[in-house]
Amino acid sequence: MEGIMMSARAKINLSLDVVGKRADGYHDLRTIMQTLELSDMLTIRKVYKPNYFKCVTNVKFLPTDGRNLVVIAAKALMERYEIPTGIFIKLDKQIPVSAGLAGGSADAAACLKGLVKLFDLPVSDAELMEIGAKIGADVPFCLTGGTCLCEGKGEIITPLSPHPPVYIVLVRPHVHVSTPDVFKRLKLDAIQTRPDITAQISAIEARDILGIASQFGNVLESVTAADYPIIEELKQLMREMGALNAVMSGSGPTVFGYFERKESCRACLERVKQLYPNIKEYRMTSIRN
Ligand code: C5P
Repeated sequence: MEGIMMSARAKINLSLDVVGKRADGYHDLRTIMQTLELSDMLTIRKVYKPNYFKCVTNVKFLPTDGRNLVVIAAKALMERYEIPTGIFIKLDKQIPVSAGLAGGSADAAACLKGLVKLFDLPVSDAELMEIGAKIGADVPFCLTGGTCLCEGKGEIITPLSPHPPVYIVLVRPHVHVSTPDVFKRLKLDAIQTRPDITAQISAIEARDILGIASQFGNVLESVTAADYPIIEELKQLMREMGALNAVMSGSGPTVFGYFERKESCRACLERVKQLYPNIKEYRMTSIRN
């Protein structure tokens, strides 16, 4: 095998609760994450030049040096294992960047899996999860995929039943959100409403889409949506356009809504485009189990 192509799929948080602050600066979470069809594409090729390493991407503003999680992931494996050739990686991004959709973590997870396959590296799944957890809190989930309850920093993963099919609108408003800043400014004692994650798990087990959507909730909205009223506006608009419910994903700023019918999903996107011509990042997607 001279090369390999890997899909790197986005995630949403169906619910997200922060249950405590940890000594290592991170927070303990209880969140249900769901993989989406929406994906980036990674092409990894062997290059027969010693010590060759290059990463390129279609997104001009994205760094392709040691700040990119793909590069961090590749280097993590290169340090641990004998990789006999140089590596060229092409990253085609479709997932909005800095959006709360784990795009960078998905790319890192796909890169780890791709390199293990391409070079037949002797890495167990558990080792890969450990390497992934060091790269980013969402990487272990991205390595697992599907529908999962994620706890701890995000690395304690309990797979749940597959999520029933549904149409999803994603809108990433044109505002900048820093995840560390959102967590830093979250006031744990002041959180008024927390999602009922146990009820959402029961709804997932029962394949009850309305039940899942009615338990949407994200405590990080108390920071991000307070900064940016557009988030609440988009949630409201999605509901007016027939969404079962809508909520912010991760630390934001992306808002997503669930639709039972494809036509309503499309009509909602058209309305968003009409009302918010400055928003350039929106997608229609679906669940990936
Ligand atoms: O691990 P990752 O780099 O994706 O996390 C980004 C930032 O989000 C961390 O530096 C931390 O400030 C915050 N975070 C947190 N608790 C988590 C996950 C992320 O405080 N469980």
